[in-house]
Amino acid sequence: MRDAIVDSVRKGVATETDRDEASRSAARRSDRRHVLHPWSAHGALEPVVVAGAAGAHFWDEKGRRWLDFSSQLVNVNVGHQHPKLIAAIQAQAETLCTVAPYHANAATSEAARLIAELAPGDLNRVFFTNGGAEAVENAIRMARLHTGRHKILAAYRSYHGATAGAIAATGDPRRWPSEPGAPGIARFWGPYSYRSAFHAADAAQECTRALEHLADTIMVEGAHGIAAILLETVVGANGILVPPDGYLQGVRALCDAQGIVMIADEVMAGFGRCGEWFAVDRWKVVPDLITFAKGVNSGYVPLGGVIMSDAIAADFEARAYPGGLTYSGHPLACAAAVACIGIYKEEGLIARARLLGEEVIAPALQAMQARHPVVGDVRGLGAFWAIELVRDRATREPLVPFNASGRADAPMTEFAAACKQHGLWPFVVANRMHIVPPLSIDEQALRDGLAIVDEALHVADRYYAG
Ligand SMILES: Cc1ncc(COP(=O)(O)O)c(C=O)c1O
Repeated sequence: MRDAIVDSVRKGVATETDRDEASRSAARRSDRRHVLHPWSAHGALEPVVVAGAAGAHFWDEKGRRWLDFSSQLVNVNVGHQHPKLIAAIQAQAETLCTVAPYHANAATSEAARLIAELAPGDLNRVFFTNGGAEAVENAIRMARLHTGRHKILAAYRSYHGATAGAIAATGDPRRWPSEPGAPGIARFWGPYSYRSAFHAADAAQECTRALEHLADTIMVEGAHGIAAILLETVVGANGILVPPDGYLQGVRALCDAQGIVMIADEVMAGFGRCGEWFAVDRWKVVPDLITFAKGVNSGYVPLGGVIMSDAIAADFEARAYPGGLTYSGHPLACAAAVACIGIYKEEGLIARARLLGEEVIAPALQAMQARHPVVGDVRGLGAFWAIELVRDRATREPLVPFNASGRADAPMTEFAAACKQHGLWPFVVANRMHIVPPLSIDEQALRDGLAIVDEALHVADRYYAG
């Protein structure tokens, strides 16, 4: 299998076949002519025209199937086309498709009640949005109103969304073309043991030093002006960076000491991805605000939101909350959330994610690390893992340069192509592959997918120079 992958990648067979098939499709022609895809240069774009999906698989118009190791954009947590989720959306459509957000309705009320019940501590009220970026925007707004302060501390190596405030808070290269952005964001380094900004020798030292650095950042930025610390509980798109034990508790303590609002962005990490309802549960930390989206209803209808503490909710008892969206609490999206939360419970998917991580994914990735020199680090939890590829294990030089594109990114492009050619849809970003399948993935399918990754890594091994 290894040689087949390497050969086919070298010959570019997969790419040619994809192009021929796609060129016959009217959907593809209209897409190429009329659709602007996010984050893409359109000249070179060859999107797969997805014709259908079920469980952990999706397929194109010619019936070519892929095992979805990406959960699309890490959102399809219960898998594709779950019958109960479809039925709930259909039933809601029959009853009430849409209402203005100043009305109450059964679907929105029930979704809010369930989310509040699952959320830790006194986070009891929900403001619904259409997705993650709007959730972050509104969390920032709430923190500013609550504290009367303006500044937001946000981490390097983070992603918070593509609207004006969320992209300004984002700590990765997707922010650069939007600069200069919204003012009032200051930045800090979070923990990342494999590439420690603090020259730490182990996780405990990384934790201590990252917290000292954060305390110093607060000091020099001026605590009196800082409204919130915004951070992903487990950093997602920037590398599946699991914080060392004690870090989030330390952030909570710093916030408490200085009257700063703690915002946990759980748009990607929440709703089971980390083997917990909310990733903060793993460390028993209660933030003041949690932002969510994606897994709340597995993306079947766009939905996001902010869950707020009683103290923040109380701000808007007597005075109006100065923010809104036509589709806040959209009934179809909220009915999907109610059904999705029900599926998580009935199928035990939260605990299942934890078990799959511990018993299947972790051992498989560790074995890959032992077999493939190019694998520098493996890390994660639940159904949320990363394989980090390096040119040299001793220096930890990434397999491709920071923010690489085009020829410089070839090792990763070829690795991804090898996965796709053998029926696996990977989530490849920078010098990493993220292993983020649906939480409901069949165990054998998961093992088969991991075997494809293992074989495809031989393509990346060819670039190892250590
Ligand atoms: C942690 C985090 N926050 C916010 C967002 C933005 O969410 P959306 O794309 O729904 O606006 C994302 C998207 O990937 C995310 O991962």
